[in-house]
Amino acid sequence: MNLFFRKSIIAVTGLFLCIFLIVHLSANCILLLPEEMARGMYNSYSTLLRENPLIKIVAYALYLSIILHVFYALLVTIRNKKAKPEKYAINHAQDNSTWASQNMGLIGTFILIFIIVHLANFWARIKLGMGEGVGVDSLGNKDVYEVTSSLFHNIYYVIFYSLLMIPLGFHLHHGLKSAFKTLGFYHKKGLQILSKVALIYALVVSILFGIIPFIVYLK
Ligand code: HEM
Repeated sequence: MNLFFRKSIIAVTGLFLCIFLIVHLSANCILLLPEEMARGMYNSYSTLLRENPLIKIVAYALYLSIILHVFYALLVTIRNKKAKPEKYAINHAQDNSTWASQNMGLIGTFILIFIIVHLANFWARIKLGMGEGVGVDSLGNKDVYEVTSSLFHNIYYVIFYSLLMIPLGFHLHHGLKSAFKTLGFYHKKGLQILSKVALIYALVVSILFGIIPFIVYLK
């Protein structure tokens, strides 16, 4: 399988994951509301997503995208390392590229660690019923709000979730720009606009995801 095909898979799955993050962030912004409102809304929304057959298909596409994205990113990173094994004191190839673009492998590893911990905290517990049980709220919905709230009353998790949003921000900023380039988008003015959109997107997503745990902690 050639490099272009591998990079295209990384780009397409990455763009899909970027869309997922907007939807996921919007849902999690409910956590910023006062507790009396947030609990019912968050739990109803979560039940709606879990029980909708169409969303179930999208969820499988999401899991597949994460697996393909990580797998091909690893292959490309290993191939690049093999192709350029020596490190030079001055690397002129870096002149035109950012720190994030040079360290996508390392940044991606941090995000992978985050996703594994995150899925163990929520997904495995809520969807697979692993670990401590999940209670129900007054409407009979799984109390996902309580799972979130109790996790974010542990300051170590708050710090972990918030800190890991820094590499996520760098990854999204560089990833969004390079995905469009990989897929053949080379319009000069368009790329300038894309660069700004990618920066705003990365800042909004990482800052909001990063402050939600603190707000829940302080409630
Ligand atoms: C404040 C931060 C976050 C909170 C409170 C949060 C909360 C949750 C919750 C409650 C679930 C389980 C949903 C359910 O089954 O009802 C979930 C699932 C998930 N989250 Fe997050 N999340 C956060 C940040 C993130 C970030 C930054 C990413 C990705 C980089 C992410 C990726 C996922 C994925 C892939 C799933 C599994 C999707 C599914 O349920 O099928 N989350 N999250």
